[in-house]
Parts: sequence; C-alpha cells; structure tokens
Amino acid sequence: MALAIYLFLSILLCSSCEAYKALVVFGMPSNSHFNLGKGIVRNLLKDGNEVTFITPVEWKNPPPNLRQIDVSNNFNVMPSYLLNIKHLMEAPTPTGHRKSVKTRLINLAKTTMEYENVQRLLNDTNEHFDVVIVEHMYSDLGAGYAAIFDCPLIWLSPVEVHSLSIGLVDVLPNPAYTSDVLSPYTPPFTFLERLEELWIRIYDAYYDYMVYEPMEAAEYERLIVPQIQKRGRQAPPYSEVRNNVSLVLGNSHVSTGVSLALPQNYKPIGGYHIDEEIKPLFENLEKIMMNSKNGVIYFSMGSNLKGKDWPEEIKRDLLKLFGELKQTVIWKFEEELPNVPKNLHIMKWAPQPSILAHPKCVLFITHGGLLSTTEAVHYGVPTIAIPVFGDQIINVKKAVSRGLALEVKLSYKLAADLKVAIEEMLNNPKYRQRVKELSYIYHDRPVKPGAELRHWVQHVVNTRGAPHLRSPALAVPLYQRLYLDLVAILSVVLLFFYTLIRKLCSRIRSKKIVNSKKRKKN
Ligand SMILES: *[C@@H]1O[C@H](CO)[C@@H](O)[C@H](O)[C@H]1NC(C)=O
Ligand SMILES: *[C@@H]1O[C@H](CO)[C@@H](O)[C@H](O)[C@H]1NC(C)=O
Repeated sequence: MALAIYLFLSILLCSSCEAYKALVVFGMPSNSHFNLGKGIVRNLLKDGNEVTFITPVEWKNPPPNLRQIDVSNNFNVMPSYLLNIKHLMEAPTPTGHRKSVKTRLINLAKTTMEYENVQRLLNDTNEHFDVVIVEHMYSDLGAGYAAIFDCPLIWLSPVEVHSLSIGLVDVLPNPAYTSDVLSPYTPPFTFLERLEELWIRIYDAYYDYMVYEPMEAAEYERLIVPQIQKRGRQAPPYSEVRNNVSLVLGNSHVSTGVSLALPQNYKPIGGYHIDEEIKPLFENLEKIMMNSKNGVIYFSMGSNLKGKDWPEEIKRDLLKLFGELKQTVIWKFEEELPNVPKNLHIMKWAPQPSILAHPKCVLFITHGGLLSTTEAVHYGVPTIAIPVFGDQIINVKKAVSRGLALEVKLSYKLAADLKVAIEEMLNNPKYRQRVKELSYIYHDRPVKPGAELRHWVQHVVNTRGAPHLRSPALAVPLYQRLYLDLVAILSVVLLFFYTLIRKLCSRIRSKKIVNSKKRKKN
C-alpha cells in the first residue's frame, strides 16, 4: 500500500517530466573522472531515466536501469609514466606540452569509439537516445555520438571555467582576464602574463584550424558518417556537428573559481558529484578519529599518483615528520611501509568525503585536484596543496589567493617544507575562518547542484536541444564582431576625402603660383 501511494505520488510530481534515455560517455581512464561520470548517472537515474554509461571503470553493484559499456582498455592507451610521480618530479612539463596533450586526448576519444563494445552499440540501428552527455577532454570528436543518434549534445566540462570551455558554446572571452586551463596565472594579469594568454589563444586557434579540426574531421568521416548514413540520413559536415552544442555542464562553482560572465547554456554545477548523504565511517576508522586528542590530518594525493612510484627518501622523511606531530594522521597510500609511528594510519583506500565531513578533521593535505578542492570547500576544511600537473596548478593558485590553502612544491625537500606549512596552518586560525566563509558561499545556492543538473538535462530533452539558450554571437563572423567591415568602409571614405583634399590643395597652390608669376610679370 505504502509503495502504491509512493508510486502514485511520484507519478503526480513528475507528470511534467517523462523518463528519457541518456547516453553518458566518460572515456578518461581515471577514478576521478569516473566519479564525475558516476555523479551524472546517479542523478539521472533518480528521475527514473534509462542510462547507458560508457566507462573504463566498472560501477560495482550498479543501480537498476543502468547499462554499462566497458572501455577499460583505455587504461592501456594513456602511457602510465605520465602519472608516475617520480617522472613528474624529474621531467617538468616541457614546452610543446599543449600539442602532446591535445593529440593524446583526440586519440583517446577515437579509441573509445573504436572498441568493439561501443561499435556494437553504434552499429545497432534500433538503439535510440534522447540526449547524449560526453565529458569534454580537449577533443570535440565525442559530438559525433549525438550526430549518430540525432539527439541533443551536452558537454560536461570537468574543470574550472576557462576560455575554451566557454568557447564550446560562445565566442572566446577576452584573454586579458580569462586564463587557459593549463596556464598557471590568475587575473589580474601582469603585462607579460596578458601577452602570454593572448599568444596561447592565437597559437591554439592556428593549430585547431590547421591540425586538430582536420584530424578529427577525418575520424568523423571514418567512424561516424557511415553510421549516420546507415540510419538513412545525410551526414552534416564535421564543423557543424562540433558546433551543435545544447548545453555545457561545468564542474565548477564561483566559490572555488573566478566570477566570469557565462553564456545562458553554460551551467556551473560544481559539487554535484558529492553524495548528499554522508556515509558513516567504518567502525575502526570512526574510533581512530574520535580518539584523536588534537584532531586528524588527512593526506591523500588522489587516485592517479601511485604510492609505489614515490622516491624512497621522501617516504622516509614523511614517516619521520608525521611521527613528530601531535595530531593523528590518516594517509591514503597504496603501500605498506616499515616502522609506522603510532599516530599514523596508512590506508590503501579511504572514504574521503566521510573523513573530511568528520568534526575532528582539522587539515587536508591534497594534490589540489578539482574534486578534492571542491570537497574541501564543501566540508569546510583548510588545505595544504602539493600540485603535480594539469589543472591542479591553477586550482591551487586560486585556493591560495583566496586564503584557504597553502602551497608546497613537490620536491625532494617535501617533508621539510610540509612541516613549516603544517605549523602555520594549525597555529593560524585565519585559514579555517576563510574556508568556512567560502563554504557558506558554496552552499548558498537556490538549489543543490544535483537538482540543477537534473533540471537542465530534462529541459534540454523536453525542448529538443534548447535552441533558445544558444548565444547569438556564434552566428556572427569574426570580422563582423571586430567591426572590420566598418573599419574597411571608413578607410575607403577617409582615403577618398584625403585624396580629394590633396588634389584640391595642389590645384589651389598651382593656381596661386601661376597668379603670383603673372603679378610679377605685370
Ligand atoms: C559494425 O558494422 C560494420 C559494418 O556496418 C561491420 O564491419 C562491423 O564489424 C560491425 N561491428 C560490430 C562490433 O558489430
Ligand atoms: C543539431 O542538433 C539537433 C538536436 O539538438 C538536431 O536535431 C539537428 O539535426 C542537429 N543539426 C546538425 C546540423 O547537426
């Protein structure tokens, strides 16, 4: 009976939203990207929708109505040395980095499509979707999924708002105050930083036009066009497909980022991946945390950097440092270490949200990944960040400039530098106050990010792609936006008058000369 009433009520409440079928594609071989994908899927399933999830990480004991398509082979596509901490310490990011990141990620998008499991899905002309949600990692090729199923495309941007993520649905914002995702600068820029941002923009636009778009277009012709034709439609050119975007869901929020003007179809929903209910800690861990007299420091470098790759001397120094602290330390580390001090607890896996939510947690030492940064603000815990690569560098810069974090460089002096930072963090209350303020800003929204996500996806489905949200700027060519046509017309007019006046002047002058000569003769 209770079930019947519940069902009746949910049908009543949801009369405006019909269940839909969604395809969610997250090809990045990494647990944090999987968490972002899982957050989307979890939310869509709440409204009783049917979801197909292309993922390299398996969701164990998945909820019903979820079909997973395994692309775990993606773990073999990205070279593992890229995530080896020792390699990252000793070979700092080379210039030319942008090109290699971009081509690697285009390749990843391509191989995801090529897997037999995915091909079987794309081959089946009986498959039908109402919306496609793809994680945008530098490549637009994933737009092809929406073109095959002739349905709206939603990108999920996993990082802070940056110039190119806005560029997915609008003209690129001004480089004088918007940074690139891999750049280490935050506005206001110095003169040289501003020049560099402009240069990156021009460099990217050139390579996009000359190299990347043709590269992706070739894959589109090979992998996508035949599937569209098989369904009896004519395939649009790739340039139209990649620009046919209904919505961007941004994994960002102004509490952790920069307050940039956003297009109507860019929705920042940072924090949606965090489950609203906090799972209780397992008994042993709850006891460790409750029994700590001076609070708990939680240390985790995320899921990508593996413990076995850390240099031995750093592990040794860290053990010594942690042993000297009054606090209890929980270190998420995938390796057994000898001579572990009493106040240190090493765990291969740790329930991060539940630890951060615990009132005894006083400090979070992190790599500064966006998910960890968001979780720290969500639960109001100050951080010491050791950025390693990618967007971590800019995330940490922002957190430091906002006063909730301290940065420590990854180096062989790590333990010594960390010691200084830990002392400052624990003795100065300003960091904790600041993170509480930002946590208030983060939570003070009209609706929770998960609800906002569900609303906008439903809106896109109901309105067949939400064309009314699209920016009119996209239809205006660059020369018109810069008024180059006006400049051309004005130049012609000015040139005309200039020549006219010059002619007149020389006429008058020659007449004068003739006249004065005449006068002299007379
Ligand atoms: C998909 O269809 C193409 C031909 O349309 C065929 O060559 C290919 O083997 C099929 N792949 C799978 C996995 O079914
Ligand atoms: C653009 O996407 C819509 C769905 O949102 C689709 O109906 C339309 O055919 C697409 N147009 C092109 C040119 O791909």
